[in-house]
Amino acid sequence: MTDIDRELLRATFGQDADLYDRARPGYPDQMFADLVALAGLGPQSRVLEIGCGTGQATRPLARLGCTVVAVELSAEMAAVARRHLRDFPNVTVEVAAFEEWTPPLTPFDLVVSATAFHWIDPDVRVGKSADVLRLGGTLALIHSEHVAGGTERFFVDAQGCYERFDPRTPPGLRQTPAADIPDDPSEFDRSGRFGPARFRRYEWEQTYSTRAYLDLLMTYSGTRSLPRPAREGLLECLAGLVDRDHDGQVSKRYLTRLTLGQKTA
Ligand SMILES: C[S@@+](CC[C@H](N)C(=O)[O-])C[C@H]1O[C@@H](n2cnc3c(N)ncnc32)[C@H](O)[C@@H]1O
Repeated sequence: MTDIDRELLRATFGQDADLYDRARPGYPDQMFADLVALAGLGPQSRVLEIGCGTGQATRPLARLGCTVVAVELSAEMAAVARRHLRDFPNVTVEVAAFEEWTPPLTPFDLVVSATAFHWIDPDVRVGKSADVLRLGGTLALIHSEHVAGGTERFFVDAQGCYERFDPRTPPGLRQTPAADIPDDPSEFDRSGRFGPARFRRYEWEQTYSTRAYLDLLMTYSGTRSLPRPAREGLLECLAGLVDRDHDGQVSKRYLTRLTLGQKTA
């Protein structure tokens, strides 16, 4: 992705922050339990979250009672996050691009980013995260992948809709089995500032009505950035498949990957 594409696409989330909030799922409880245990989090901990969106990962962290500073690019997303978090005086949401954000002098015990790190400038994200962590602090990255499973027939047929309406779709694309998605320590390793990365993986499914599935698709930067006629054609084509062939309900399988590195330098 070029820098220009990244900056254009990452700005799409705030175009309808309430839709994002309604349609995007959160993360498995077990993942937060593992994050707390592996990062050694407690009520005294200081946590920085990069790209909190409307607070999908912020809310479980807020409930731990620790201090959370969340940095979010979009003022609209941040406003929804603040609404959800208004009962948590331990949480502040700041509107800024992480790349340009001025950190406080007190270092953090954990820097976490959920489905957002890939939107940050690759030349800045790991180094700046390390800079704001105390020695021994943890950088935790949460990645979301759509993997093989769920209503498999629907996803095979959906490819036809994508090939018809989205020219960026590689022909014959199929869902990737979770086992074929590797854990990847390379960014941590390259930085030279973290010990060996640790990994956890969680697979789960969510069922969507036709409306809820279209709403979910409208939270994806890829769908939002299509020209309007193509976007409407794509959504109509997919809705037809869900309604006609699957009684108005499909399941999608997710792989949530947690990658943790401990700051050594
Ligand atoms: C896919 S959403 C993830 C939101 C939320 N963390 C979640 O788990 O659903 C990516 C978020 O990162 C934010 N974002 C993108 N680039 C950013 C940047 N440079 N600095 C801070 N936030 C950024 C976007 O505005 C968006 O809210």
